[in-house]
Amino acid sequence: MKFFIDTANLDQIKEAQDLGILDGVTTNPSLMAKEGITGHDNIMKHYVNICNIVDGDVSAEVISTDFEGMVREGEALADLHEQIVVKLPMIKDGIKACKYFTDKGIKTNLTLVFSAGQALLAAKAGATYVSPFIGRLDDISTDGLNLIAEIRMIYDNYGFETEILAASIRHTMHVIDCAKLGADVMTGPLSSITGLLKHPLTDIGLEKFLADYNKGN
Ligand code: G3P
Repeated sequence: MKFFIDTANLDQIKEAQDLGILDGVTTNPSLMAKEGITGHDNIMKHYVNICNIVDGDVSAEVISTDFEGMVREGEALADLHEQIVVKLPMIKDGIKACKYFTDKGIKTNLTLVFSAGQALLAAKAGATYVSPFIGRLDDISTDGLNLIAEIRMIYDNYGFETEILAASIRHTMHVIDCAKLGADVMTGPLSSITGLLKHPLTDIGLEKFLADYNKGN
């Protein structure tokens, strides 16, 4: 399972990268705005800064909603750095743009996916990643994890190579449940990754080992 961090915060990206287990980064316009990164030039520079910290794929989202605009923006984003993945919204022109970039050998991430049918279309268009938003489904009393299971079954039935990127992950149990269901990638906040470290018995056990070692010294 690949671990992506879902943030535009450079300190948090560095912290996850330093752990040695980070495979990539996802961002979106809201996450950029949260860090105070606004304006086209600043956003473009920020993507390059992120790429310079991590080794893996960095999803950069277009804001156009028409095919021509998505192609123009996506090409500019892909030109920024070889690690950039063009993130496209799950709408009709997003699917068309996905096929366009697939044919050009440019990686894509279809975002704002909330149904198995949308995920099937993303795979048909050759998306590198599909991003089902599990937390936002949970928010409206709909089982986000069930969507991961449905997409896994459909992709396995036909051998689609699109990777299931479980997004809108909010906590550690989402990560573990997605791993059980066979999601290829998780993306979530730093806390959803570092939270996996925690167990009180680890802390108690370590404290005792150190205390026992020190008895002889
Ligand atoms: O990766 C998608 C993510 O950015 C959305 O997360 O927590 O805003 O639903 P959230």
